[in-house]
Amino acid sequence: MTHSPNPSGCAPHEADAEALRQRALTALLTARERTALLTDSVDDHELTAQHSPLMSPLVWDLAHIGNQEELWLLRGVAGREAMRPEIDGLYDAFEHPRATRPSLPLLAPAEARAYAAEVRGRALDVLDGTVLDGCRPLVRAGFAFGMIAQHEQQHDETMLITHQLRSGPAVLAAAVPPAPPEAAGLPAEVLVPGGPFTMGTSTEPWALDNERPAHVCDVAGFFIDTAPVTCGAYQEFIEDGGYTEQRWWAPEGWAMVREHELTAPLFWHRDAGQWLRRRFGVTEAVPGNEPVIHVSWYEADAFARWAGRRLPTEAEWEKAARHDPVSGRSRRYPWGDEDPAPGLANLGQRHLRPAPAGAYAQGRCPYGAGQLIGDVWEWTSSDFLPYPGFSAFPYREYSEVFFGPAHKVLRGGSFAVDPVACRGTFRNWDLPVRRQIFSGFRTARDA
Ligand SMILES: [Fe+2]
Repeated sequence: MTHSPNPSGCAPHEADAEALRQRALTALLTARERTALLTDSVDDHELTAQHSPLMSPLVWDLAHIGNQEELWLLRGVAGREAMRPEIDGLYDAFEHPRATRPSLPLLAPAEARAYAAEVRGRALDVLDGTVLDGCRPLVRAGFAFGMIAQHEQQHDETMLITHQLRSGPAVLAAAVPPAPPEAAGLPAEVLVPGGPFTMGTSTEPWALDNERPAHVCDVAGFFIDTAPVTCGAYQEFIEDGGYTEQRWWAPEGWAMVREHELTAPLFWHRDAGQWLRRRFGVTEAVPGNEPVIHVSWYEADAFARWAGRRLPTEAEWEKAARHDPVSGRSRRYPWGDEDPAPGLANLGQRHLRPAPAGAYAQGRCPYGAGQLIGDVWEWTSSDFLPYPGFSAFPYREYSEVFFGPAHKVLRGGSFAVDPVACRGTFRNWDLPVRRQIFSGFRTARDA
């Protein structure tokens, strides 16, 4: 772990410790409110059903959230005995692949809710009684509490994907995201000059192991799209034979197109000459100015090749998002160091869709690119690999076992990501065939 040591030694400053405790408390409560919204909005039958072999039943996520909280906060931080040792195996994501989870003797919805609530009550007592800025890496700056809040929010995003995959009428509602202040006039791409920048972090207290440590990375100059690729641009790719011409595709991507007869992003279909999409139980016209979503890495890669461009590397993406050319410093977010706010980025499931390209002018980076944070996860060309000096914390299965060429990195977070689990250094990863996730992309080219 690369946390910088507390300059005053192990003893916390009282005011800092109280601020950390409040931050941890707010993060845990915010996550649980969202979990409740996602699990109370459907009946018990829907909670226990498997809506797609790609996903767990919602009731599995619910009890797994409680189980991880018990493991790390009650047993890990407070050294308590297991509350229900017999259920640990059921909720170990490595023991049971998603497709097999419905056949397990899972806790019923009422039991799962009661278990998660019981764990939460005890975890808040632990939070009250723990010195957060102490010598133990697990609790320094409230790390374990921040990690568990992020874990719950990540499962909330997973549960929102399950909501998107379920059939049946809409059960979730949200406001329409803001339109761009000036729809036209933005350049298609911006220049990021070459030179070194600091990638990753050694100081962000709740950053996860794969974001660490901060290290200098030299990046050649490049151009990157001002906004994520829109549905309108993607339709041009489709209409120009994007899915029928092998030359745009990586061999594995072309094999996927052929095997599954792909013709468009997931959840799109054509009706009377018009592209429609299904979004959380509503069928609607595909909005041309909105970032495209539910595309695999292979589709993003093929589009970029068709457009005479390429996907940005992970380092290029992070330099565009964090580097401040005036100070030479890397910042926490494209707009600066302040935490996300509703006027800066589309995060936290406030809207159940990306905002139109060009929205959130105040959230743009110094180079002029916008919507780097929020709206859609952005595929990069990079494999998920450790940074130089990486050290697994607090367990190998968090990141280390996923390193390698099988997974591609996504950056920036989607509308479904909570601010607690989103920052300029945050790294997500997935298989290049995945399309049910809230994934889009932007393209780049060498300068
Ligand atoms: Fe998990």
